[in-house]
Amino acid sequence: MGSKNMGALCMVAMVFVLLNIGLCNGGKTSPYVRKLYASDDLPKDTFPSPPGFNAPEQVHITQGDYDGRGVIISWVTPVRKHPDVVSYWAAGAEGKHKHKHTVHSVITTYKYYNYNSGYIHHATIKGLEYDTKYFYEIGQGNSARQFHFTTPPKIGPDVPYTFGVIGDLGQTFDSYETLKHYMANPKAQAMLFVGDLSYADDHPNHDNERWDEWGRFVEKSTAYQPWIWAAGNHELDFAPQIEENVPFKPYLHRYYTPYQESQSTSPLWYSIRRASAHIIVLSSYSAFAKYTPQYTWLEKELSKVNRDETPWLIVLLHSPWYNSNSYHYMEGEAMRVTFEPWFVQHKVDLVFAGHVHSYERSERISNVKYNITNGVSTPVKDPSAPVYITIGDGGNIEGLASGFVDPQPSYSAYREASFGHAILEIKNSTHAHYTWHRNDDNEAVAADSVWLFNRHTYPNEEHN
Ligand SMILES: *[C@@H]1O[C@H](CO)[C@@H](O)[C@H](O)[C@H]1NC(C)=O
Ligand SMILES: *[C@@H]1O[C@H](CO)[C@@H](O)[C@H](O)[C@H]1NC(C)=O
Ligand SMILES: [Fe+2]
Repeated sequence: MGSKNMGALCMVAMVFVLLNIGLCNGGKTSPYVRKLYASDDLPKDTFPSPPGFNAPEQVHITQGDYDGRGVIISWVTPVRKHPDVVSYWAAGAEGKHKHKHTVHSVITTYKYYNYNSGYIHHATIKGLEYDTKYFYEIGQGNSARQFHFTTPPKIGPDVPYTFGVIGDLGQTFDSYETLKHYMANPKAQAMLFVGDLSYADDHPNHDNERWDEWGRFVEKSTAYQPWIWAAGNHELDFAPQIEENVPFKPYLHRYYTPYQESQSTSPLWYSIRRASAHIIVLSSYSAFAKYTPQYTWLEKELSKVNRDETPWLIVLLHSPWYNSNSYHYMEGEAMRVTFEPWFVQHKVDLVFAGHVHSYERSERISNVKYNITNGVSTPVKDPSAPVYITIGDGGNIEGLASGFVDPQPSYSAYREASFGHAILEIKNSTHAHYTWHRNDDNEAVAADSVWLFNRHTYPNEEHN
């Protein structure tokens, strides 16, 4: 049967889904069609600097320790270093001066080609109370700006927590829609961001003003809830032709991570624990072969995961391992071959990746039997394997990747070339509800949804 016929058969099968006729082994290729052309980056200064001399801008927060009682607050002052102070207080303690705390920032700057950055501040606060709303203020006089965040509940196996998931966001009209839709969904308490932030490198000489523009664009979310960062290829900014030879330079100056808290030696790979989740962030664009720092660190970190405290084991990385799009096909393969046996052994629940600009969810499958002599190279259903989600559909300047391999491989459960975001609602130690929302729908519509059953506490073969 030709692949076109197979596709047609799958389409017919989908009509019968309600009748429970399973003709289409390979999961669902959504028939949903949206415009495929890429949209432009928003004009510069769509998100202007806030008013007031040297006003702090591009405010963003991320987790600042291992267990969720720390926050790193980052911002840029465009003209002068000072003020370099954050004051913060627990909600309800307003006006009582004795309850206000202050912390100073670490300040960094960098040059990139003909661009000079502003003063980039990173202030780390530790020892906050769990599950508490805090206000914080940066800047002075009429340049002062106030924001707030809420710390997560104390670590525990049944602690519910909701994460948003976005990848490959960029700064186009579509990116704007993605963020708007995400923010219109009030459930998510923290963001799992799977890499490719500003796409500044798609502009001449990697126009680093696009990094500033992006920081202002996402501030409405990043100043109020932690975004957990993973680095993508667009963070490399490696451009020897303009003598920019230091990989990740702008990204590493702008986006700090609490890597030392998990004994990592690089901000590009690290882990955090939050509520009932242990989240491991990997770098697809750093060495990961046996004996490298990332490899050694991951092996040790996996052995430290305590599923009785944090039953949900989630990995973020940029270049997907299981994806049936012809775009960036198999770029994640070397890392899969290196780390997949560990993911199966440790029963990772979920792997979120970006990079491919479309959406795809896999079955629980693994491909760990292959060795160079036995020829066993087909992915098989595996209840100990993670579900792999590719969510590189944030809406960047490069447009959608619609070239799915036909027929749909058996490991692919759902795939669609649309922009959107996802929500992962962890309910307790056994159940999580996961939904993917395409931008073209109202926020409440879930284009793809699935109940996930924890691999440690509920490793039921019949269920996802
Ligand atoms: C490769 O797989 C075959 C078949 O399962 C097995 O006999 C052989 O020992 C394996 N080779 C190595 C080096 O593990
Ligand atoms: C866990 O959450 C699911 C979904 O909300 C619920 O059906 C189940 O009863 C919960 N389990 C416990 C032990 O509360
Ligand atoms: Fe990418």
